[in-house]
Amino acid sequence: MTRQVLLFVLVLSLGLVHGQVSYSISEEMVKGSLVGNIAQDLGLDIKRLKSGKARVYTGDSAEYIELNKERGILIIKERIDREALCGQTTPCALHFQIILENPMELYSITVEITDVNDNPPTFDKSEVKFKISESAVSGAKFVLERAMDLDVGNNGLQNYLLNPTDNFALKLHSQADGNKNVEMVLHKPLDREKQEKVALVLTAIDGGEPQMSGTMKILITVLDVNDNAPVFTQPVYKATVTENAHKGTVVATVNALDADHGSNGKITYSISNTLDDVRNTFVVNEDSGELTVIGSVDYEKSRHFQINLRASDDGGLTDSCKVIIDVADINDNTPSINIISKSNVISEDAKTDTVVTMINIQDPDSGDNGKVQCSINENIPFLIKTTSTNFFSLVTDSELDRERASEYNISVTCSDEGVPSLSSSVTLTLQISDVNDNAPVFERSSYEAYITENNTPGLSIFTVKARDADWNQNARVSYILEDSSVHGVPVSSYVSISADSGVVHAVRSFDYEQIKDFQFHVKAQDGGSPPLSSNVTVKIMIQDQNDNAPQVLYPVQTGGSLVAEMVPRSADIGYLVTKVVAVDVDSGQNAWLAYKLQKATDRALFEVGLQNGEIRTVRQVTDKDAVKQRLTVVVADNGQPSRSATVNVNVAVADSFPEVLSEFTDFTHDKEYNDNLTFYLVLALAVVSFLFITCLVVIISVKIYRWRQSRILYHSNLPVIPYYPPRYADTLGNGTLQHVYNYEVCRTTDSRKSDCKFARPGSQNVLIMDPSLTGTMQRIQSEKSILDEPDSPLEVSQY
Ligand SMILES: *[C@@H]1O[C@H](CO)[C@@H](O)[C@H](O)[C@H]1NC(C)=O
Ligand SMILES: *[C@@H]1O[C@H](CO)[C@@H](O)[C@H](O)[C@H]1NC(C)=O
Repeated sequence: MTRQVLLFVLVLSLGLVHGQVSYSISEEMVKGSLVGNIAQDLGLDIKRLKSGKARVYTGDSAEYIELNKERGILIIKERIDREALCGQTTPCALHFQIILENPMELYSITVEITDVNDNPPTFDKSEVKFKISESAVSGAKFVLERAMDLDVGNNGLQNYLLNPTDNFALKLHSQADGNKNVEMVLHKPLDREKQEKVALVLTAIDGGEPQMSGTMKILITVLDVNDNAPVFTQPVYKATVTENAHKGTVVATVNALDADHGSNGKITYSISNTLDDVRNTFVVNEDSGELTVIGSVDYEKSRHFQINLRASDDGGLTDSCKVIIDVADINDNTPSINIISKSNVISEDAKTDTVVTMINIQDPDSGDNGKVQCSINENIPFLIKTTSTNFFSLVTDSELDRERASEYNISVTCSDEGVPSLSSSVTLTLQISDVNDNAPVFERSSYEAYITENNTPGLSIFTVKARDADWNQNARVSYILEDSSVHGVPVSSYVSISADSGVVHAVRSFDYEQIKDFQFHVKAQDGGSPPLSSNVTVKIMIQDQNDNAPQVLYPVQTGGSLVAEMVPRSADIGYLVTKVVAVDVDSGQNAWLAYKLQKATDRALFEVGLQNGEIRTVRQVTDKDAVKQRLTVVVADNGQPSRSATVNVNVAVADSFPEVLSEFTDFTHDKEYNDNLTFYLVLALAVVSFLFITCLVVIISVKIYRWRQSRILYHSNLPVIPYYPPRYADTLGNGTLQHVYNYEVCRTTDSRKSDCKFARPGSQNVLIMDPSLTGTMQRIQSEKSILDEPDSPLEVSQY
């Protein structure tokens, strides 16, 4: 361009320019296109052109236009690109000269090249990329690259368009050079969460006709900003967990969403409760949001859990939610038995329905799992009643008897109604205290005891024993001898009883012959208040001892007196010479007497009846038999040891008394029966003996008489031993011996039979006996004191 201008100036300065023509053509005309009729315009003849060798002079510039001399026109020689020729310079013109010779003429031609809109606006890059934070605020500016349009003027770049314009608007700044700076202004903030990538198209348009445009893509990546808090999918979650759930049981899963990206969207769950029990019981997986059990879940401690959960992203934004966990009860609690009050001891006379124990039951489970029923073991006189919810009382159900059961082990079992049921039990030990409701009871309804006579005083006879079913003091039995009298004598003078042991002691020595038995009452009394007692009859029987030797009543033995039984020489075999009569005040075997012949002058002549004491002849008496016969009879009782008495019986075998007398003088002379005594001596003795016997008979008769007098005195209330008194009056009168047979303790019904028969009470024939003595018949007969002291204690014994 500079060169063109220079050329034009040069031409003018030469002054050779004869004419000047301007043309205007548009660029890009095809080759050969007409530019202008130069001949005509310059007023030149074509011939002249030819002669003048007209030519185009462009200097050293390129020849775009050539001269057609034939036609005198200018045509396009080369395609002209205005943009290449002039760039942005306007107007754009070609300047050249047409030079003629002969004469030299110079004409300046100017061809203005007009622009044709043949270039669209173009961007340097087809796309640009931005990274814009979503936090960018409205008004933020982003400079865009300008577009270029080679065309000029209207055909040049005119405007920009941006599409879409949701977030951005274009702002153009006109520069001094006429260009425009393009800026993109944020008018609505970006949201990565809505649109992470935004694609815009920037269109540059020119003003040509037709309009041309160029585009550039604007790719915007929205950078995330932690502008979204996590959000739980539900504000409240509900879940149920059974109590005693295993550790690790997943209870619920919470979920929170965060629209942000990357770490801004990474959610961490945590429990925000401050209460320890929740934190100790549950844990939340910080990534997955699973709530799991880590502690013990106990319905009885808490029935619900409210867990506050927090979800936070890495940017620190949070959301929270609640998880309400209901704990489902299971029957995991055994009922607990609490004894509120308890009697350890109850009196056996307690009334029915007496409360013994109060029990409270606690079962923390709910519903049926916490409903409790109690029961007690069977067959005991107690009952368990419910008084109000969870309160039970143990009461007596029937009468108690300590003597039957002094202690009860009451086992109380309480079970709930859960499935399976749980139960617990306690054992209550209840003592039954004693009441003095039992009298002592003797082991036997009556006692009989035996004691042998002649005991030592103080001897323990036997023991009575009473038992008392009560306890302790109420069962402590004392034995008391009840006052009574035995034959007018207080029983305490016979026996005593040890209060503690019940041992009965004899106070005195007993004499069977005096008292054979007696009875008394013993009272057993317990130590209760008031005391109870019972009594028993005790009968003491005194046993006989063989303490009395037989007493020979007949023949009477008196000192040196001599009585002889007469046996006529004519006596037959079995002639009853006499009968030895003896009594034994003992009884039974001790009084069972046996008679034996111990010595005899002539053993062959006499025999003694073993039981009846009858002395009989065993053979015919002969003249050779000595007149005087002497027999010694032993009377022995059957006691152990046996006691005996001997009696000498003199028998005179003679037909006449003088004969006897002469013979029996020997007896007085020598007690030792001696066959060798001289006849005279015997005769003298016989005389003396006879006199002596006579005197003796008289004395006995007197004694018997006195006894008969006293019998009237003691008619029926004295101990009687019936027998037939000897009729001494008769004896004395006629001297016969047959009457003597009746003189015996046992009445014989027949003199030939010696069976003893006891006389019936009331018999007129009685024998007086002094009970205070170990009396013998002899004493009775001799002692006057019995008759003199009618007040002396006399015991009645019946034979
Ligand atoms: C009660 O239990 C105690 C202790 O187990 C035992 O010694 C006693 O004999 C029992 N009593 C009864 C009446 O079963
Ligand atoms: C002995 O006991 C009976 C009842 O068992 C009574 O009737 C009687 O009077 C009592 N006797 C004495 C002496 O206490």
